[in-house]
Amino acid sequence: MSMQIWAVANQKGGVGKTTTAAALAGLLAEQSARTLLVDMDPHGSLTTYLGFDAEAAGSGVYELFRAKVGDAPLTDDNALIRTTAVDQLWLMPSSPAMATLDRQLGARAGMGLVLTEALQRLHGRFDRVVIDCPPMLGVLMINALVACERLIIPTQTEFLALGGLQRMLRSLAMVERSRGMRIPCLIVPTLFDSRTRASQTCLDSLKADYPDTVSRIVVPTDTQVREASRAGLPVGSWPAARRAGEAYRELLRELLEFEQAVAQAGAA
Ligand SMILES: Nc1ncnc2c1ncn2[C@@H]1O[C@H](COP(=O)(O)OP(=O)(O)OP(=O)(O)O)[C@@H](O)[C@H]1O
Ligand SMILES: [Mg+2]
Repeated sequence: MSMQIWAVANQKGGVGKTTTAAALAGLLAEQSARTLLVDMDPHGSLTTYLGFDAEAAGSGVYELFRAKVGDAPLTDDNALIRTTAVDQLWLMPSSPAMATLDRQLGARAGMGLVLTEALQRLHGRFDRVVIDCPPMLGVLMINALVACERLIIPTQTEFLALGGLQRMLRSLAMVERSRGMRIPCLIVPTLFDSRTRASQTCLDSLKADYPDTVSRIVVPTDTQVREASRAGLPVGSWPAARRAGEAYRELLRELLEFEQAVAQAGAA
């Protein structure tokens, strides 16, 4: 099977994007898929999560863009990738300098394809790629949306989070128009607290508004998620985060089922 690329994005901050990207990638790696995580967020939460100092993680996503502009030719894509504490899981780290990319390159042509081209060069090295996005629309998120085959949108089950979801869906529609194809997406309700009415009401309205796009599972609020990130491990590799871990396992199952159905429809 060819390398499958998923992006995790939402234009709202703090909704569980990085946690979700790390959890799904960790579970894929656990199933022996050679998995690459790409940290497209200048804040580098994912890079930090996996135990690297984002200020000093060395070459990564930033160098891809610099090389494209031409003042730092890339000699070797391998130099952009780190091994992690998890077997079969690799990271292309972020750096704070990425925050300047929109200003540096915003209007230049061809800048939306930088990540796509890099991943094409890495074809064969990985089975799976999971891209973690920053919470705002810019050259970095566009690169992720252009590169991905599937978009995962973690959405906090709280009414203030619904505006971010709507903005995200508009950005997706824009990229779909320019790619001339649909990008299947899955809305994943996160930080669900069954004890609060607000969580339940918000989940109901998500399901009513996006009946075909909301995942079967919801990710519950689980205090152990923070402990897992403190330990630098994806949620599925942190046994104490059992509730969230189970949800992410089920989410992965749903994503893989969809992929199989698409592959079968394509083959038929
Ligand atoms: N299911 C969960 N239960 C409890 N805490 C969670 C859960 N998911 C995420 N968190 C916590 O919520 C915070 C935000 O999560 P995360 O960093 O994954 O969100 P994000 O969308 O990537 O944020 P940003 O927009 O800043 O990149 C983190 O402290 C994380 O540990
Ligand atoms: Mg994040």
